[in-house]
Amino acid sequence: MSLELFPFGQAGERTPLGPSAFLLHGFVLPHTAQLQTLIQAITGQSPFRNMLTPGGYTMTVGLTNCGTLGWTTDQHGYCYSPIDPMTGLPWPALPNLFLTIAREAAQTAGFEDFVPDACLINRYVPGARLSLHQDKNERDLSAPIVSVSLGMPAVFLFGGHARSDKTARVPVKHGDVVVWGGEDRLRYHGVMPLTDQPHPLFGSERINFTFRKVR
Ligand code: SIN
Ligand code: FE2
Repeated sequence: MSLELFPFGQAGERTPLGPSAFLLHGFVLPHTAQLQTLIQAITGQSPFRNMLTPGGYTMTVGLTNCGTLGWTTDQHGYCYSPIDPMTGLPWPALPNLFLTIAREAAQTAGFEDFVPDACLINRYVPGARLSLHQDKNERDLSAPIVSVSLGMPAVFLFGGHARSDKTARVPVKHGDVVVWGGEDRLRYHGVMPLTDQPHPLFGSERINFTFRKVR
């Protein structure tokens, strides 16, 4: 199933994963401590929780959101909601640093003027995984997905337009950003089960956030 293995790149390098998809090595390394502080503030307001899928499974990845819309799932299906169902309050606002990073990463991958309205934040602990899926609940598919990795390393699976297509195994580490859009926007992707490789700043956690333009 999984084929190529991408070499680890140097900070500042850009590895193409497709015609409109790139791994930006170390793109957020200058900001990681500030990002960690912002994530702590967000999760103090809207904590990570293990959501239920429509198939009845509890996700191994803990989720929360910031932005005007947040992605949620329960036994009835997936949706974007302006309200955190756990607190009954709006999701925390998107910090300015998040908006700047999202815009600059998108631009580096060839997408101008990216202004996300949603940011899904995932927390992985050892053993957590994300099965292959497409990000297709967004109304605006012309905008890319910008995905930031912090903490423990992981293997990001980047497939094709059919679930059964071969997947590339892409090592993602602390500070890396993956951007996919255009003809690559609906490619299947996921994350292999994490092994415990504690990180100096994040311990036995991987935090990933994905910026999306939903509306
Ligand atoms: C996602 O597809 O929402 C997350 C991908 C990742 O954790 O790298
Ligand atoms: Fe996704």
